[in-house]
Amino acid sequence: MTNTGSTSRPAAAAGTFAIGGDRPVARLGYGTMRLPTGTFTGPVRDPEAGIAVLRRAVELGVNHIDTASFYRRGDVVANELVRRALAPYPDDLVIATKVGPLLGPDGYPSQQATPGQLRGLVEDNLRELGVDHLDLVYLRVGGRSAPGGEPVAERFAALAELREEGLIRHLGVSNVDAAQLGEARTVAPVAAVQNAHHVHAAADAGLLAECTRSGIAFVPFFPLGGGLDPLDPGRLEKAAGRHGATVQQIALAALLAASPVMLPIPGTGSLAHLEENVAAAAIRLTPEDVASLAG
Ligand SMILES: NC(=O)c1ccc[n+]([C@@H]2O[C@H](COP(=O)([O-])OP(=O)(O)OC[C@H]3O[C@@H](n4cnc5c(N)ncnc54)[C@H](OP(=O)(O)O)[C@@H]3O)[C@@H](O)[C@H]2O)c1
Repeated sequence: MTNTGSTSRPAAAAGTFAIGGDRPVARLGYGTMRLPTGTFTGPVRDPEAGIAVLRRAVELGVNHIDTASFYRRGDVVANELVRRALAPYPDDLVIATKVGPLLGPDGYPSQQATPGQLRGLVEDNLRELGVDHLDLVYLRVGGRSAPGGEPVAERFAALAELREEGLIRHLGVSNVDAAQLGEARTVAPVAAVQNAHHVHAAADAGLLAECTRSGIAFVPFFPLGGGLDPLDPGRLEKAAGRHGATVQQIALAALLAASPVMLPIPGTGSLAHLEENVAAAAIRLTPEDVASLAG
């Protein structure tokens, strides 16, 4: 990691991290899941507003965008917004996507793809994003519950084959425990782990330590408590007051401080929230802040 605090690229104010050793990104990234809809069951959002958010993110120095073909609601497809907003893509932009879940007739993930179905899902992402290879593809395993319990090697090997063919540059795993990360690494190099995590969540310390030791990016999803486990504002307000920041900014700053391999990807469909989240990269927490976060 390098510290390259810059006012012209505020997303890089917490430094950069080279995904897979060769794709440097500003540590504060962006996730597209909130572009098609703000909540899991909410109405479809305006695609033009989503395009404006994506373009502003890149202007602010965000060059790590997390997406998926299954981020869609009605006619609004996150990958297509990324393409419309940003293609032809800047050379330094890393677009990460994930495959694994299959959508049921109601439009929600219903079952896991078989190894043989993964090629088609990768091809969907290539087509929607309008690229000839994908920078980073995660195998997303499990359902909505905590990681663990299922084998990953066969499916990861199917993605490793596509990597050998040049369709994928780097591979990652999502929603995994340390054993599943170890299993995947017996098949092919793992550049990134993407798991649910935020400032109050009990991190899988062993998994994070292994990522930090091995230079594997740890990409926390739901970094603002957007899932079932919300943030506790009461534990963030004192630090927020000291920095003149919002509790969401402190939640992101705490993640960035936790490990140099931590790359948060807060999701938003709001320009104001995007600006706020990116500005969090410049916040340096003090030991007093860290003590107050512990509650
Ligand atoms: N691998 C996986 O299984 C998985 C699962 C879920 C998500 N993800 C990825 O992780 C990314 C982040 O997760 P997420 O977007 O679900 O949740 P999140 O980042 O924890 O929270 C997003 C929610 O917080 C709101 N928000 C954003 N910035 C805010 C701010 N500054 N102040 C107040 N509210 C704010 C957003 O509303 P507005 O849109 O109205 O701002 C949205 O409702 C996703 O976008 C996706 O790329 C991966």
